[in-house]
Amino acid sequence: MTEKHFIPIPYKNSLENGSFSWSSPSNIALVKYWGKKENQIPANPSISFTLDACKTTTTLKVSKNESPNDFSFNVFLNEEKNDGFKPKIYIFFKRIEIYLPFLKEFHFDIETNYTFPHSSGIASSASGMSALALCLMSIEKEMNPTMSDEFFNQKASFLARLGSGSASRSIQGDLVCWGKHKEITGSSDLFGVKYPFQVHDNFKNYQDTILLVDKGEKQVSSTIGHDLMHNHPFAEQRFMQAHENLSKLINVFKKGDLKSFIEIVESEALTLHSMMMTSMPYFILMKPNTLEIINKIWSFRKATKSNICFTLDAGANVHVLYPSNEKDTVLEFIKNELVAYCQNGQYICDQVGIGAKKM
Ligand code: DP6
Repeated sequence: MTEKHFIPIPYKNSLENGSFSWSSPSNIALVKYWGKKENQIPANPSISFTLDACKTTTTLKVSKNESPNDFSFNVFLNEEKNDGFKPKIYIFFKRIEIYLPFLKEFHFDIETNYTFPHSSGIASSASGMSALALCLMSIEKEMNPTMSDEFFNQKASFLARLGSGSASRSIQGDLVCWGKHKEITGSSDLFGVKYPFQVHDNFKNYQDTILLVDKGEKQVSSTIGHDLMHNHPFAEQRFMQAHENLSKLINVFKKGDLKSFIEIVESEALTLHSMMMTSMPYFILMKPNTLEIINKIWSFRKATKSNICFTLDAGANVHVLYPSNEKDTVLEFIKNELVAYCQNGQYICDQVGIGAKKM
């Protein structure tokens, strides 16, 4: 399949105005996407748990664009007009116009509500861009009502990817793979697919408690970080390693092998950050408290034989991952020993979710 698959034929129906709402979750990568080629094609495949509580709800209000020679839209963030997001959305519209040729015909009021702080290392661009892509797909569906659900989801993920790569993994649940991998049936660089193989009950309702170590804007955006993987001395090795880790995970998911899961996931997190530290220019997104938390998790695991582990996004916050049957003990540990390292004691209890919902 190529990009052309997503260029629509002339629509059957027309639309004057309307309002479309979707709620779309964030996701947490187990094998990380870090590095990309032109047109948001990932340098390596990635896989993530779709989250549940961390989500964005977007309402897209559609009316006629009085000056259809350019895109026309306003952005409202948690009820307030916000022009800060406009450039990113403008670029997004430009990238996807060929796949949604109606974009300039309409004026859009994009009303977005986050359940968590944006630009904090919790993938807010993933939930935000996927929610917007889904609203746009609802418009297309009005104009082409016979579209299948499979195509709807595929194209939503395809469009979301063009807004933010990781957003392609937020349409469905509970495990989503994005990027071509030779052993994963149906996997594609163009969109995310539901993980197609057997997953052991050990991974059902997997818990993710997100410790907010630093809620400030990060100094280096993911987009710049990805770019620094061009000419990175360890890039090729890293991309190969991601393929290998994904291969290993197939068996881990099947067998419910938590020990190997922990090893792969923590190694991926530290590799991601070591890529940042060995870029030119180099940078560090972890904070002292990130390391304090990691060490505490390791001590607790050693002392209690718990299956707790951590992962990191492109930020200082720590995602604490653990099986649902350890919920009580791990939460107790988090409250007693880790909350002290969180900014204003803040953390978010989340778990694996089923994907985006139409409102
Ligand atoms: C570290 O998807 O935010 O979270 O495509 O430039 O928008 P852009 O990047 P983005 O990168 C996410 C990187 C990551 C790892 C991951 O989610 O796989």
